[in-house]
Amino acid sequence: MSKDKSFSRSEKDGLYKAIFSRRDVRSHFISKQIPDETLAKILNAAHHAPSVGFSQPWNFILIKDHETRQKVKQSFMKERKKSILMLDNDKSKQKKYKSLKLEGIMESPINICVTYDPTRFGPFVLGRTSISETGVYSVCCAIQNLWLAARVEGIGIGWVSILTNEALHKILSIPDHVRPVAYLCLGYASKFEAKPDLENAGWLQRIGLGDVISYEKWGVCKTHSWAQFCDCVKDIR
Ligand SMILES: Cc1cc2nc3c(=O)[nH]c(=O)nc-3n(C[C@H](O)[C@H](O)[C@H](O)COP(=O)(O)O)c2cc1C
Repeated sequence: MSKDKSFSRSEKDGLYKAIFSRRDVRSHFISKQIPDETLAKILNAAHHAPSVGFSQPWNFILIKDHETRQKVKQSFMKERKKSILMLDNDKSKQKKYKSLKLEGIMESPINICVTYDPTRFGPFVLGRTSISETGVYSVCCAIQNLWLAARVEGIGIGWVSILTNEALHKILSIPDHVRPVAYLCLGYASKFEAKPDLENAGWLQRIGLGDVISYEKWGVCKTHSWAQFCDCVKDIR
């Protein structure tokens, strides 16, 4: 890093490269083990995320055990079945859903359950007094740090949410007051796709940047004072 702690051009490029080339990885895991130092490094990146009131409300349960992962996979299978039934009235969507690879629980060498502990440094947590979800938001910031740090190390992460928190509580002996936020599958990946798998599969497309920005108030897509900026983002996807 430059001495003044500002970022050089190549350092900036590195960050944007990590952001744009990060993918949710469910296939392409290779058998190469993640060295302990690398795992510690990316978890430390997660641990340095912002958190409401500096409450650091996360915990990371590291899982290698085959049997544990099998149990989680069973919850996935059960919930996947339920999702398929929800698409009973849209056969073509149902068929597409069935064809998607939506987890890499057994193929990845390490699974991580990231949890939220609302009692950490509580009950008064500075900044969480009006919006209680800010605790979970903080955990999501940690997950994103982990995802990006893993990407620069060549490690893919897949987030699996097609399972129940009840199952995770039971399988991983998580106390009642602690909430699972993410179940992640990690491993070195042989490739990172240029686009999200769901985009490649024709499930959904990325929305244009201009379509998610409004000016001064909700839903206002164009105003005189933002005209130049509006022009600047109109073709960005
Ligand atoms: C909260 C959350 C839950 C997700 N759950 C799943 C999941 O259960 N299965 C899956 O295949 N992908 C899951 N994903 C990954 C998204 O499908 C993926 O991020 C999205 O399609 C965009 O692709 P990208 O991450 O490669 O850019 C999840 C992502 C998030 C943020």
